[in-house]
Amino acid sequence: MNFIITTPLYYVNDKPHLGSVYTTIICDSIARYKRLRGEKVLFITGVDEHGLKIQRTAFNNGVSPKEHCDEISEIFKKNWLKWNISFNKFIRTTSPEHEKVVHEFYEKVKASNDIYMGEQKGWYCVGCEEFKDNPDNSPSYKCPIHKKNLEWKNENNLFFRLSKYQKAIEELIQDPEFIEPKERRNEIINFVSKGLKDFSISRTNLDWGIRVPDYINHTFYVWFDALLGYVSSISSDDNKYSLDSSIESGWPANVHIIGKDILRFHAIYWPAMLISAGMKPPKKILGHGFLTREGQKMGKSLGNVLDPENLLKKYGEESVRWYLLKDISLGSDGDFQDRRFVDIINNDLANTIGNLLNRTTSMSRKWFNNQTPPLSEKNNNELITLANKSTKNFLTYFDNFKIDKASNEILVFATNVNLYLNKKEPWSLIKDDKNINEVKLIIYNVLEATRIIGTLIRPILPEFSIKILYQLGENNIENKDWEENLKWGLLPESRSLPKPIPIINKLDYE
Ligand code: MSP
Repeated sequence: MNFIITTPLYYVNDKPHLGSVYTTIICDSIARYKRLRGEKVLFITGVDEHGLKIQRTAFNNGVSPKEHCDEISEIFKKNWLKWNISFNKFIRTTSPEHEKVVHEFYEKVKASNDIYMGEQKGWYCVGCEEFKDNPDNSPSYKCPIHKKNLEWKNENNLFFRLSKYQKAIEELIQDPEFIEPKERRNEIINFVSKGLKDFSISRTNLDWGIRVPDYINHTFYVWFDALLGYVSSISSDDNKYSLDSSIESGWPANVHIIGKDILRFHAIYWPAMLISAGMKPPKKILGHGFLTREGQKMGKSLGNVLDPENLLKKYGEESVRWYLLKDISLGSDGDFQDRRFVDIINNDLANTIGNLLNRTTSMSRKWFNNQTPPLSEKNNNELITLANKSTKNFLTYFDNFKIDKASNEILVFATNVNLYLNKKEPWSLIKDDKNINEVKLIIYNVLEATRIIGTLIRPILPEFSIKILYQLGENNIENKDWEENLKWGLLPESRSLPKPIPIINKLDYE
């Protein structure tokens, strides 16, 4: 069965910013990890193209919504390739296939008697594409996320009978596995306990959307349309474009990775819609924190985004990946700070891992004929226990989506290996011939430990991993069983080692 993992389908009001890069990198590392563990993965990403926000953006840019969406969608797709994102499906919500699935879904929900016409009055945030509470009922009240004025709306819309699913949702969120981390789950439990209200799923006076079949002047509310992208993206494998075909492809999704801003849609509205249509809710919603800059959410509307293109050019894709994955715990907000970024990359990747590899392969080449050392004694040493412990921890953390802790575990191990090397001082021992067997063991152990580090780091930094392993004379890495390669002792003795080259350059402060 497929392991289905998704990013949010990003709005195309602008090109990707570091926030969308962050979520996508998280998904990518999980998708890579699952593949390495032998699962068949369907990694879905894509774009959310309809709605008022996009229609207005296109208008302000003087182009048609379609032209605008074509341009930005292509930028998103190309961007993910530049970031080495291993997605399997890229869904555009303007595709005719998606529209077909939305229509089919609507008919099912209607057949469950969950759609009715009602009056929608309220304050709307175009940035969120969501009705909001306005505690003062004042036109100058601003959306706490987008810091923009809300707009008053009063129209007759179709409603979805969310209230009918109060009990079903309460049961669903009882399961501690369904929403993670804990803080997010508590937020939702609290919200649901106040009683769920029906919400409108169509709009009048908005052309840029999928038409509602029975009501000529209504288009679907952008969220009712976009969430279905997760389903329509996998319904196309046999050109059927149907809900049944999505189920055959493995629906329900194993995990939706999202930011905390869109938690309610995913943890409440979406499961209720699915249950209404006779489908299973997703298995897990993982809501990560916000990336902040100077303490404020980084966002297109706030104008404080870090341009990921610049970071990519300046630091390279994998440095950014390491910083975001290792330094930010999945549930918490993380402030992006340039100085911290440079320190972490230099310390973790260049010094702790890069130098360790470089100096040990150099010693091995110098003392053992450009090869890994031959061993003449039984090898029983403290690094074996440490390697097994770190590997076990790494897998457990990753299985529980604690990517920061998994990354840190690699670093803990690498630090221990550095300590071992410095304590053993093979450079002093080698001066006396009688120590040669001991030196062979020490160098072998450190090289073997770096092989395990290079293997462990693969789902997080795929290129860096290959560079490490290449320096140890490993080829054909793609075709080897990853888990098998985490076992101690697989580095061949007397294997030729290539000329050492630095696997990462140190970064400078600007
Ligand atoms: N189109 C909807 C999602 C529909 S899913 C069926 C949407 N799009 S969005 O472009 O606004 O993307 C929101 C998501 O982008 C967040 O949930 C998060 O995953 C990511 N991020 C956007 N800004 C972010 C930060 N500042 N920090 C971290 N993630 C951020 O909502």
